[in-house]
Amino acid sequence: MNEALTVALGDRAYPIHFTDSSKALRATLSELRQAQRAVCVLCDANLLASRADYLETAGFTHAEILSLPAGENTKSMEPYATALSFLAQGNRNRDSVVFAFGGGVIGDLAGFVAASYLRGIDFYQIPTSLLAMVDSSVGGKTGINLPEGKNLVGAFWQPKAVFIDTQLLESLPTREFAAGMAEVIKYSLLADRALFDELETLGVLSPQSEALPAIIRRCCELKAQIVIDDETETAASGGRALLNLGHTFAHAIENAAGYGDYLHGEAVAIGLVLATRLSVELGQLERTWIERVIQLLETHSLPVHLKSPLDTSALLTAMQRDKKNRSGSLRFVTLQAVGAAVTTEGVETAVIEALWQGVGAA
Ligand SMILES: NC(=O)c1ccc[n+]([C@@H]2O[C@H](COP(=O)([O-])OP(=O)(O)OC[C@H]3O[C@@H](n4cnc5c(N)ncnc54)[C@H](O)[C@@H]3O)[C@@H](O)[C@H]2O)c1
Repeated sequence: MNEALTVALGDRAYPIHFTDSSKALRATLSELRQAQRAVCVLCDANLLASRADYLETAGFTHAEILSLPAGENTKSMEPYATALSFLAQGNRNRDSVVFAFGGGVIGDLAGFVAASYLRGIDFYQIPTSLLAMVDSSVGGKTGINLPEGKNLVGAFWQPKAVFIDTQLLESLPTREFAAGMAEVIKYSLLADRALFDELETLGVLSPQSEALPAIIRRCCELKAQIVIDDETETAASGGRALLNLGHTFAHAIENAAGYGDYLHGEAVAIGLVLATRLSVELGQLERTWIERVIQLLETHSLPVHLKSPLDTSALLTAMQRDKKNRSGSLRFVTLQAVGAAVTTEGVETAVIEALWQGVGAA
């Protein structure tokens, strides 16, 4: 339990540190300095305001840190160019290293900066949000958004190590913590029935919950296994795409509502309700699960219904545009049982329309 978890990807294998991760971070930094490799840290303004002490204690200097505005808009062209220029102006070379200190936004951006600067330099993840700890910091998907859509530009670029320190969650806003719980619940639904039962028993969790570190580790184990089996999401069915449980619906909500109204995890929560309902409609799952999933999401103050009505046709159009679709056919992740997800195609539009209306679409 105290040992680091290895994401076993051959010559791209890397450790995820869970205990003593601040010590592991200091040791890594000191090795890099001994090897005279230049380092830089990308973080956002919220993190710099609340956790600059963490970076100082780790051994980073002020001049090595680039702080960008907080929020999803930072995963876009202009901040991407700013970060690349920061590296170029500091004469960073191919031995230089990027650290991502932040949530999924900074992690995805910094990873893509590292993947593309000088055709690829090393990078490390220090996730600070619950979502980044259980999901985005592991697996090597990096990228930015375009005005035309989310995550449309990116690269698979694995970090050299991930340092998870749950102490960092103490400054995370409660609503952001809950959004991360949506991804935790997602893992339980798609791959771990025992975790779902445990979450039901535990009730509300907080950064101080004793059970939290083991739950985060469990999610990373589940994600690591899926990534090892299908690193670049090319499996004809199942595989890495299963991690998108609820996400075809969630991306449509984010797109139709405009980024900002819903935190990603909040949209995922509604997406999980819809994916569960779809599984029931298709005869794959017993109806009683709908209520259990809703209850668990509500325990964590997550929405299970649209906050205000969105246009059904706008939601359907956004779903069609989602890059997860294959050859024009809508692709969903559904549950054959809790803990056993599958990819499903060929669902009739009328079924999806009715599902949207069931969560308050107009
Ligand atoms: N690469 C992947 O595999 C993957 C997987 C899931 C999600 N994502 C991406 O992750 C992004 C969402 O990530 P997120 O939810 O972490 O959002 P985020 O990075 O915007 O962080 C959420 C907010 O919390 C603040 N914050 C983070 N950690 C904090 C801390 N310890 N103390 C105080 N404030 C803190 C941030 O400043 C920000 O305002 C989306 O862009 C999504 O597409 C990527």
